[in-house]
Amino acid sequence: MDTAADITAMRRAITLAARGLGSTSPNPVVGCVITDAAGAVVGEGFHQRAGGPHAEVHALRAAGDLARGSTAYVTLEPCNHTGRTGPCAQALLAAGISRVVYAVGDPNPQATGGGDTLRAAGVRVEQGLLADEAEAGNAAWLTSVRLGRPYVLWKYAATLDGRIAAADATSRWITSPEARADVHRLRAEADAVLVGSGTARTDDPQLGVRGIDGATQPLRVVVDTNAAAVKPGARVLDATAPTLIAVAEDAPAGHLPVDAVLRLPRAATGPGLDLDVLLEALHTRGVRSVLVEGGPTLAGAFVAAGKVDKVVGYLAPVLLGAGPAALADAGISTISRALRLDVTETVAIGPDLRVTAVPAAPAPVRKGN
Ligand SMILES: NC(=O)c1ccc[n+]([C@@H]2O[C@H](COP(=O)([O-])OP(=O)(O)OC[C@H]3O[C@@H](n4cnc5c(N)ncnc54)[C@H](OP(=O)(O)O)[C@@H]3O)[C@@H](O)[C@H]2O)c1
Repeated sequence: MDTAADITAMRRAITLAARGLGSTSPNPVVGCVITDAAGAVVGEGFHQRAGGPHAEVHALRAAGDLARGSTAYVTLEPCNHTGRTGPCAQALLAAGISRVVYAVGDPNPQATGGGDTLRAAGVRVEQGLLADEAEAGNAAWLTSVRLGRPYVLWKYAATLDGRIAAADATSRWITSPEARADVHRLRAEADAVLVGSGTARTDDPQLGVRGIDGATQPLRVVVDTNAAAVKPGARVLDATAPTLIAVAEDAPAGHLPVDAVLRLPRAATGPGLDLDVLLEALHTRGVRSVLVEGGPTLAGAFVAAGKVDKVVGYLAPVLLGAGPAALADAGISTISRALRLDVTETVAIGPDLRVTAVPAAPAPVRKGN
């Protein structure tokens, strides 16, 4: 039976795990809290970067001898394999932990089995405490393991009537400084930030993280099929972060830095590049989460391909009445085919509203229809 103390400790572990967002790929974010028999916290830690110690090891180091006979709360099943660091299941055993509570089972076939190893060695093991919360906190990594492609978050900023620019294409700034600062947090949590050639041409965005101390800069990616939008001197090519300009295999890209050019096949149907191959190429480079920052044409292509895992819309109390909508054609022509979403959060950010939503699970088929 989970006690209030169990829940408090696991919630703290989930909070700790979130501190690793954006800097652990290709590894998951993980948090760990160790409590003694009286329920007092004797050690805690989180996985900070790939190749560095896992959360359990940080927490065990902090606990020292106090780990013996204590309980470890971990957001993800302790790993069972030797990668760049040793298996955490063994580290927990060696430290004399007597009970392990983890939230989510490890779906990675190479690392799973830590729970069984601990159980076989006589440790009390429980799974599933606050699993939904822990799963949400690790959604990017879990999705990438389960689907074999990066997690895709589409973000946009729009007026209350759903426009992302005015009729004359001016768009700075629809939302408030507070909302724009929040976008930098999303960038810091993502492994890669992606825009289409239309946005590169119109806005010349820099796409880096600004205003967050110690943030890991994401890989910046522009899909520019004909290598025509990103010119030498474009802000996205500055030195603050690595950049890839995805272009077609036959595009004339001699004006771009050689190591920034990613050649991809064109889409089999429709305009532009093959987005599946793009996601595969990014996944191969260790990218586990992609923040798609638009514009509407590219976002529409991702929605049409069924590759949007989460939507974050910043809505400003502003009306325009004309100008492009947040989402262009997504291959949906009738209301029965609309992509239904579940809202998971609404938050006021300065004068604006941030709405977070995920695709709704398909409705169960009703008999008799
Ligand atoms: N408020 C906001 O949140 C926000 C965010 C971003 C942009 N914007 C605004 O949006 C406008 C630009 O949007 P946009 O819709 O014109 O352009 P976009 O979505 O930024 O870029 C679309 C272009 O990307 C290229 N592309 C490559 N592969 C593709 C694929 N598989 N599917 C779709 N496109 C692919 C295509 O051009 P090529 O094939 O020729 O390369 C396509 O025309 C600007 O006014 C900008 O200010 C607003």
